[in-house]
Amino acid sequence: MSRRVALVTGGNKGIGLETARQLARLGHAVLLGARDEAAGRRAAQGLAAEGLDVRAIRLDVTDAASIAAAAATIARDPGRLDVLVNNAGVAIKAGDGAASAVTLDALRRTFEANFFGLVAVTQALLPLLRRSPAGRIVNLSSILGSAAEHADPNSPIHGYAMVAYNTSKAAVNLYTIQLALELAGTPIKVNAAHPGWVKTDMGGPEAPLSVMDGAKTSVALATLPDDGPSGGYYHMGVHMRW
Ligand SMILES: NC(=O)c1ccc[n+]([C@@H]2O[C@H](COP(=O)([O-])OP(=O)(O)OC[C@H]3O[C@@H](n4cnc5c(N)ncnc54)[C@H](OP(=O)(O)O)[C@@H]3O)[C@@H](O)[C@H]2O)c1
Repeated sequence: MSRRVALVTGGNKGIGLETARQLARLGHAVLLGARDEAAGRRAAQGLAAEGLDVRAIRLDVTDAASIAAAAATIARDPGRLDVLVNNAGVAIKAGDGAASAVTLDALRRTFEANFFGLVAVTQALLPLLRRSPAGRIVNLSSILGSAAEHADPNSPIHGYAMVAYNTSKAAVNLYTIQLALELAGTPIKVNAAHPGWVKTDMGGPEAPLSVMDGAKTSVALATLPDDGPSGGYYHMGVHMRW
C-alpha cells in the first residue's frame, strides 16, 4: 500500500513543523503547507535532509485562490489525502484584549486565519479526504477555546482576556463537533487538539512544553485507529472540557 499522505498547514515553524517531522517519521508522505513559499521550501528541505518524505506546498489559509490552487495540486499529485492537520493560526497582540476593548479589526483578522481559514481549507480538501479509507482531521484549538474553563473560577485560564483569540478557538471547537456529527458513519474522524502551552513564537520562551511534546496531541489524533474517537477535544490523550 502507498504511504498515507498528510497535509499540515502552517508547517514552516513551531508546532506545525514538528508535527510534520513526527508524521513523516511515522511513515507519512507529508505536505508542509506554508503561506511564505521560501519559508516552506526551507522547512521542507530541512526535514528532507533528515531523510523524511516531506515537500512544501504554498498555502495561505486566508486566501481562497491559494487554497483552491493547493487543493488542485494535491488532487493531481499525490492524488490522495488521508490526514489534514489544521495547524495554521495567529494570536494578534495589537487590538486583542478584554471584551469591552477588543477591536473589530483584531477580531476579524484573528477569525480570518483561525476560523474562516480552517473552515475553507477543510471544505476544499474534504472531497479528497472522503476517498481515504481512514481520513483524519485535526483542528488546532487551545485550552483558551474552552467555555467551561473560562467560566470556572478555579481554572488557570479564568480571567485570561484575549477575546479575539479565545472566541476564534471556541468557534473551532464547535465547528469540530458539527463536522464530526456530519461525518459520523464515514471513516473520517474529526477532533480538536489543545497542544499545551508550547515554546514557539506564539507561545513565547516561558512556555513549559517543547515543540516535541507540543506536537504529540496533533500526531496522536492524526493517527487514530479505526475505533478511535471523533468529535472530541483532547490534550495528550485526555478529553478537555468544552
Ligand atoms: N504555542 C502554544 O502555546 C499554543 C497553545 C495552544 C494552541 N496553539 C495553536 O497551535 C497552532 C500552532 O501554533 P504555534 O505555537 O506553532 O505558532 P507559531 O510558531 O506562531 O506558528 C504559526 C504557524 O501558522 C502559520 N500561519 C499563520 N497565518 C497563516 C495563514 N494565513 N496561512 C498559512 N499559515 C499561516 C505561520 O506562518 P508564518 O511563519 O508565515 O507566520 C506559522 O507557520 C496555532 O493554531 C495555535 O493557535 C498554540
